[in-house]
Order: sequence, then structure tokens, then C-alpha cells
Amino acid sequence: MKEECKMKIPVYKPLLGEEEIEYVVSAISRGEISGLYGEYIGKFEEEFSHYVGCSYGIAVSSGTAALHLALASLGIKQKDEIVVSSFTNMATFFAVLYQYAKPLPIDIEPDTWNINSALIEEKISERTKAILVAHIYGHPVDMDPVLKIAKKYGLYVIEDCAEAHGATYKGKKVGSLGDVGCFSFYANKIITTGEGGMLTTNNSEIADKARTLKSLAFGANNKFMHQDIGFNYRMTNIQAAIGCAQLKKIDKIIEKKRHIAHYYTENLKDVLGLQLPVEKSYAKNVYWMYHVVVHSENFGFTRDLLMEKLKDHGIETREAFIPYNLQKIFIQKGWVKGNECPVANYIARNGFYLPSSPLLKEKELKYIVNKIKDIKKDH
Ligand SMILES: Cc1ncc(COP(=O)(O)O)c(C=O)c1O
Repeated sequence: MKEECKMKIPVYKPLLGEEEIEYVVSAISRGEISGLYGEYIGKFEEEFSHYVGCSYGIAVSSGTAALHLALASLGIKQKDEIVVSSFTNMATFFAVLYQYAKPLPIDIEPDTWNINSALIEEKISERTKAILVAHIYGHPVDMDPVLKIAKKYGLYVIEDCAEAHGATYKGKKVGSLGDVGCFSFYANKIITTGEGGMLTTNNSEIADKARTLKSLAFGANNKFMHQDIGFNYRMTNIQAAIGCAQLKKIDKIIEKKRHIAHYYTENLKDVLGLQLPVEKSYAKNVYWMYHVVVHSENFGFTRDLLMEKLKDHGIETREAFIPYNLQKIFIQKGWVKGNECPVANYIARNGFYLPSSPLLKEKELKYIVNKIKDIKKDH
């Protein structure tokens, strides 16, 4: 029998084209290469914040920088406590720790993998200053209960939108729902600038503070009489040039992501023991990555074995995030107990994501779903 040829499918590859090259060349040929000036920085800030539905956008050097800058601009300081969704990239937690504040991890919903708002109130004390939610894998958080709790206790709401550009909650884009939105434009994000990030807000005071702090808090009259202890979190004009080109493609990329997700869901929905991502009635999911959970007792074997076998067939995958409460560095410090967030812990051990690049071809999608089914059948 003819053997099927083995494919090599990376977990992600960005969609870049002629426009990105043209804009970057234009930035370089004008000598506008830093983060202090250049036509693309302001343009990207204006166009992206407009896309999100916010009055202000402050471009920065990474998603992590956006999160830190947001907390610093809100005046979060030592001994303050911040409620944080446990299941996220550790950058979300690091940002809190950079301000010497204390993150309080909250367990997640078993289907969206986002913060379980029913568990927030019991953690709130007079030291709590903010709720930091992450729209994980492109599915928006159920924001109404979060905003209600925030209002009741006078807390800020910060949205980590690193994985959810263009996702909507009840028709409104993420990044415009809380006090501040924080985006990442790392190479595998919905749109990319290579490395980069953006803070979005409708609050002019927060925007002004963030703009000052992001660039060494230079003085308004005498540049070198600094207004504060600032950071250098500037996005360069070269990165912003890529961002402007990417923004033109964002709807097309999201459409492709949703097509990929629908293909996977349609073809994997009958696989016993494999939990697929959801799209709640309040949500538009942008499926940053197509994340699944292997319930091994029904599936027949573990997530790790499935990932290994897919790798043998040239299919790259990535395991789920490891929550804050399972990170050894924090357990050793006595800051957290491993068993604090059982749902997040279960997802961390059994979840992984499939290739999700907008460049994926139909034949590659078909190959991936067939391999999952074959591996399960043959086990
Ligand atoms: C949820 C989340 N928050 C924050 C970040 C950090 O962004 P960056 O890598 O741009 O610093 C990422 C991704 O990298 C992320 O997925």
C-alpha cells in the first residue's frame, strides 16, 4: 500500500506580506527607526485604539510591558492585592510582581478556561485594588459579573487581551470593557509587530500617565528633569510600521482563525474524551490558538502521549499554560499552595493546542484531524 507522505506543520507561523516590507523600508529609509518619533507610531496607536473602540492607545515594547505599565499607571504598589485569573501566561502575574504587589490567583471555568467570577468576592479585602482578567485563547471573559464586583468594591479592571484582538463581549471589543486593555503583538499573536504591545483606555488621566512612564518620564519643559521613575517601554517606528500593515489584515486573519476552528470542531466533535473550545452566546471567539483538553479516562491515553505521537507525524503542538499556583518558584517561596486552583491545574495537565496559523492549508487541517483519529483508533 502507498504510504502517506509525512507533513511538517509548525504550531504557528505569522501571515506577513509585501505591505509589511514596504512600510518597514519606508521607516528605515527616512531614518525613523527609534521609538521616539516616526510616522507609524502615532498612526498605529490611533488606528489600533480606534479598532478596539478606545479613545487612547499607547504603543509599547511588549505585552508584558503593557501589563506592567497599566499597573504602574494605576498606582498599584507594594502590599496592594490584585485578583488574577490563575490560568494565563505568567507575564500576567509577573507584571503584578514587578510592582511588588500580591497576586491572588482565582480558579477558572471548565469550559472557557477564563476566570470564574463566582470565586472572586471571597478573595477581596481592603487591600484589593484591581481585578486582572485574561481573555484566554481568544475567548472573551464573561465581563458583566466582573464589572459588577469591581463597581461594588471600587476596584480597577484590567484586561489582558494578549490573545484576543478583535474578540467581542456582547458586541463590544475586548480592551474597551475595563479601565485598561493590554495587548501583545508577539510573533504568534493575532496581529504582530515581532515584539510589541499596546495599552488601550478611555481614561485620559491613565493614558497621560502611561505615556509619560513609558518613555523615562522625561520632563515636559526641561526634558532631563524627569517627572517620575519612568521605563523605556517604547515601541520602535519599525515595529509600528509592521503593525500598520498587519492591522489592514486583521479581519482576514480573524476570519481564517474562525474557519480553522470550525474545521477542527466539525471534524473532532465526535472524538470521545476530547474537549473542544466553546463560543458562549455572549462571545465572539477569535480562536487565537485551538486549545483542546484530553480526558484520558475516556480518550484512552494521556495528553502527553497524544502530543508525542502527533510530533512523530510532523505535527507541532504546545501544552497548556502552567498556572501561577503550580509554579515551583512561587510554591517554594510559600506564596501559593499547589492545590489552590483545581480546575486550572487539571487543564494545565491535560490541555494542549493544535497548529493554528492563518497560513494553514485545507490539506494540512485534514492531515491533522485524520492523524488524531488514527492515533486514537490504533492505540
Ligand atoms: C495572556 C498573555 N499575557 C501576556 C503575554 C505577554 O506578552 P509578550 O510576550 O508580548 O510580552 C502573553 C504572550 O506572550 C499572553 O499570552
